[in-house]
Amino acid sequence: MQQPYFFSDYRRQVDEALEKLISQHSDDSKLRAAMRYSSLLGGKRLRPILLLASARALGDVDTRALLTCAVSIECIHAYSLVHDDLPAMDNDALRRGQPTCHIAYNEATAILVGDALQSLAFELLSAESLALSAETKLRLINILSKASGAAGMVLGQAIDLESENKQLSLASLENMHRKKTGALIEASVIMGVTAGFNADKHKQLTQQEHQALINYARCIGLAFQVQDDILDIVSDTQTLGKPQGSDEAKNKSTYPALLGLKGASEKLQMLHDEALASLQVLASRNISQLEQICRFIVSRNQ
Ligand code: IPE
Ligand code: IPE
Ligand code: MG
Ligand code: MG
Ligand code: MG
Repeated sequence: MQQPYFFSDYRRQVDEALEKLISQHSDDSKLRAAMRYSSLLGGKRLRPILLLASARALGDVDTRALLTCAVSIECIHAYSLVHDDLPAMDNDALRRGQPTCHIAYNEATAILVGDALQSLAFELLSAESLALSAETKLRLINILSKASGAAGMVLGQAIDLESENKQLSLASLENMHRKKTGALIEASVIMGVTAGFNADKHKQLTQQEHQALINYARCIGLAFQVQDDILDIVSDTQTLGKPQGSDEAKNKSTYPALLGLKGASEKLQMLHDEALASLQVLASRNISQLEQICRFIVSRNQ
């Protein structure tokens, strides 16, 4: 599927903001160069785009503040990729079409790049210059830290590593995927509406709308990793920009490994349908971009 028309516009804005915020401490250390290498070159920017589209669902918003929030989640994502590729984890040599950070630099640098990108995310959200209320900033920090930490992405990654060479139950596999990948995707949506709302009563979601949005986020978060598992089998290294067949080589627990390609595709379709159905509760809002993101997630080829 072609990327929706608004992706390139959001992506350009996110890339400009990333470039500016990553470079704000202008030193010429190897660490800084490796941070730029790992965050600026390539990547779909799906999480920042989702954050921006979620804020937009509420109405007009202050784009500058939102872009900082968008960059913060991309910093966490980029850090997770750098660490995910390390020899002690998935041991992959290609990412976003170029050598992984530990290959281009070295392992110690890759570990430190991840550490530094993680800190940067929270530095950005807590900055005085970020034009959001103190309460909103605190909420954003809370959402992102919970989603990325030992109850979210990092736990999912730990389960993923423990699950190599094992057959997980469907429930355990789903739990792992919801944490290692779903958590940050859900956080993108919730951070988007939290920053977009920023105490503007006119934009407040009803309880029912909020629940529906969370369900949408949960569905697309899981769907994203199911499609990632499928692409690991059916796509090719050139298109993916990362090694095709990496999961099979490490005997990872994945949806296709457990359900077969057909079963995994059916699961994907169900999640897609449920996500779109949930959004209907928000039909009076600006949900067109969220609908398109959902369609993109299940039909993307990279
Ligand atoms: C890859 O994420 C890692 C997973 C969570 C599956 P993306 O497919 O969003 O990677 P980039 O940012 O586009 O490179
Ligand atoms: C990674 O899952 C999830 C992360 C938290 C980075 P994968 O290990 O399947 O991601 P890829 O396929 O290497 O991008
Ligand atoms: Mg992994
Ligand atoms: Mg991996
Ligand atoms: Mg994968």
